[in-house]
Amino acid sequence: MDIDVITLFPELFRSPLAVSIVGRAQGKGLVAVRAHDLRQWADDARGTVDDTPFGGGGGMVLMPEPLKRGVEAVKGDHGDGKVILLAPDGERLTQQIANELSLEKHLILICGHYRGVDERFRARYVDREVSIGDYVLTGGELPALVLVDALVRLIPGVLGNFESAMEDSFQEGMLDCPWYTRPQVFEGEAVPQVLVSGNHAQIRKWRRQQALERTRTRRPDMV
Ligand code: ADE
Repeated sequence: MDIDVITLFPELFRSPLAVSIVGRAQGKGLVAVRAHDLRQWADDARGTVDDTPFGGGGGMVLMPEPLKRGVEAVKGDHGDGKVILLAPDGERLTQQIANELSLEKHLILICGHYRGVDERFRARYVDREVSIGDYVLTGGELPALVLVDALVRLIPGVLGNFESAMEDSFQEGMLDCPWYTRPQVFEGEAVPQVLVSGNHAQIRKWRRQQALERTRTRRPDMV
């Protein structure tokens, strides 16, 4: 999968994408994530990409032309891609949306900033708008990183069998069960007996019951 990110702050993407599972996935050639500085597509030498809103009001709005040039440039370099705008008024990110987007070959993520993004760019060039939750961040960079992380781990070959993404919280419409590791007794509390019984059918059943119970109490809206 190819992911191009268009942003005012490409440096924000460097270390989060270089380490851990996303870093390894890039190393294995399963995904390539490139962050591009929007200012390179500005009209003037100063790199102006935003302006005050028509009609007044505080903040700045990202202008449509630099964004359009950016989208066309990365499409030209890496084939047609699906354009996703990160914005607080987009559809709320869910595991289902991550599953859908993980099947795309090329994504172009646009990080909004300041007051927002000119509506004409949104209407003409954006295929899908995604929010990571009902709160407002200073820009779309952290949401883009959240989306990249959620997508990359779903790409076949990125996680080993042991870490199968299909067993995660939300993937089956349920939260995950509790997990335990060594030591077997911590501050006087032993791990549940069934987990050291060696009875794998019983362990599967226990985990399912625990997942269901956890979902019922923590997220009744999901049941
Ligand atoms: N930009 C600012 N806040 C955001 C949010 N919650 N989701 C996506 N993009 C954003």
